[in-house]
Amino acid sequence: MNNIKKLIFAILIGANAAAQTPIKIEVDATKPLFPIQPTMYGIFFEDINFGADGGLYAELIKNRSFEFEYPWMGWKHIPEAETRFNTENELTIYNNSKTNPQNPRVVRVDIRNATKTIGLQNEGFDGIGFKKDAKYDFSAFVRSNKGNVNIEVQLLNEKDEIIGTAKASQSSISWGKVEAVLTANQTVQKGKVNVIFSEVGQIDIDLISLFPQDTWKGRKGGLRKDMVQLLADMKPGFVRFPGGCIVEGRTLAERYQWKKTVGKIEDRELLINRWNKEFSHRPAPDYYQTFGLGFYEYFLLSEDIGAEPLPILSCGLACQFNSSETTPLDELDPFVQDALDLVEFANGDINTKWGALRAEMGHPAPFNLKMIGIGNEQWGQEYFDRYELISKAFKVKYPNIKLVSGTGPGAEGELFEQAEKALPKLNAEIVDEHYYKDPKWFRDNANRYDKYDRNRYKIFAGEYAAQSHGVVNPDNKNNWECALSEAAFMTGLERNADVVYMTSYAPLFAHVNRWQWTPDLIWFDNLTSFGTANYYVQKLFANNPGTSTLPIKSNGENLTGQNEIYASSSFDEKTNEVIIKLVNISTEAKSIELDIKGLAKRASGRNIKIVESDLKKYNTIDQPNKITPSESLFTIEKGKSMLSLAPNSFQIFRIKK
Ligand code: AHR
Repeated sequence: MNNIKKLIFAILIGANAAAQTPIKIEVDATKPLFPIQPTMYGIFFEDINFGADGGLYAELIKNRSFEFEYPWMGWKHIPEAETRFNTENELTIYNNSKTNPQNPRVVRVDIRNATKTIGLQNEGFDGIGFKKDAKYDFSAFVRSNKGNVNIEVQLLNEKDEIIGTAKASQSSISWGKVEAVLTANQTVQKGKVNVIFSEVGQIDIDLISLFPQDTWKGRKGGLRKDMVQLLADMKPGFVRFPGGCIVEGRTLAERYQWKKTVGKIEDRELLINRWNKEFSHRPAPDYYQTFGLGFYEYFLLSEDIGAEPLPILSCGLACQFNSSETTPLDELDPFVQDALDLVEFANGDINTKWGALRAEMGHPAPFNLKMIGIGNEQWGQEYFDRYELISKAFKVKYPNIKLVSGTGPGAEGELFEQAEKALPKLNAEIVDEHYYKDPKWFRDNANRYDKYDRNRYKIFAGEYAAQSHGVVNPDNKNNWECALSEAAFMTGLERNADVVYMTSYAPLFAHVNRWQWTPDLIWFDNLTSFGTANYYVQKLFANNPGTSTLPIKSNGENLTGQNEIYASSSFDEKTNEVIIKLVNISTEAKSIELDIKGLAKRASGRNIKIVESDLKKYNTIDQPNKITPSESLFTIEKGKSMLSLAPNSFQIFRIKK
């Protein structure tokens, strides 16, 4: 059956659709309206839900430097009794705060009785995932004080059987790195690692690390390949990092300070993760930030996946949901300096202080940073005052770098309105709005930006996700109703691309067992990761943005839910295609009479769609492909076509002009 016949057949069998009077939808491909920014669809990254340490950052050892509040957290002594209650062979934490204040603790291994071995066992973040035949790089910093202590590394499966082993050689007297490569002979979801010491002597050991060799781009000590691939597949316009509330900290001391996240890994100072104690219903006492994934790595990631970097910096205000600790206005210089130095780090000549560090880390070419966020989800006069001061000082040196500011946590209400009034007076350029709302809100707000003031700042829809049960409710699911409602809302973002310059779903990642916040775009365990229905909606928008919007109307009006249909359209000048996005939130098929002005007599196209009748359905780690897009070809005569739009579907039509 050819495609035209298929289409006619679909129309004939779509009984409900056929019974309706077709809804006429008109697209004018001769009248491009506004450019769609290349940054339109991006990624929001935050180290929440073990998204960085224990997630994207592929380190498998938890508490590798013994710097968690309790130094042995994540570690067990082997054998427990002999190392703790025996004077012969001992494991002790040594604190060298004078010589190494950023990373003071090491383990001192003393072996006096050569007939017995001792060791350390690491439990990983939620166990350690190993893949059969995959290779793993072990390393540690070691100082040999006496004798000649041997180090053997063992990979263990869930039954504590050894599935890979190697000796790590060390002969250095002063601090040096010991290394070994191990191969796993089984695939294991929740394994462990043993580091066994033998022979009489004494060593100090620190930064015990294990990485898979098969990382993204094969970089040593790099990122999880499967997780970056999901991001790359989205073709995002930007990556916002490192958050989120993590930028602000529960207190100022716990805020994110980018300068502490660059340079040598062994010199990066660990910090408690603010999501460690945030939710009593999902405690994560072992959640810390090693900053192995720091600002340099975020810039590199953005570059790798072709996205603009968007770092967000503290504005001197700790999270206003927590302590609200505030830096006095006359003490904001370090915050201004952090912003200025960040531009130097990203873009500066290699002869500048921060540019030289970037080059030393492996990237002499600039990262071409074009925008920075000042403050995350802040609100009130305290925020406006600090934004004003920092932005004015910053703009003196970098007038062409765009600044992103915010309207606080809500999409409406007093705080939001206050920000809407205050920010234009501060020459705000791009303003971040957040909405974590029920699915209906997203459907009802598809026209939100139709009415926005065109003469003030541009919008960054920086954090949003439809909540199936309630905001931060642990029962929230990434179900099809939420994803479809977001698709309906996003047609409104796209239609208003003259105001909306950037959008991103949040949060991005969640470990299936270690999450604090749900819903999330991508879920993962120790071995695999998968995209939710919401991920596929984001991906379809980001893969099919077009370069300028086109008018798309029914009865002369934008489609913002009339007949339960939502729509946007764009033209892609790179491929010479008209792109139409249609969302049908009805439980019935809809009969559509599509009329595209400006198309050649006969045109061919692709129809990419997600169709799912069960709104409560969602993808899981065991069944990750329940909701995924499918694609087919079609032809259209003289720009006119009859379509039966399946119930609860999101459809994209790409037609050669
Ligand atoms: O995305 C989770 C959190 O939601 C972010 O950290 C914060 O900005 C917002 O409140």
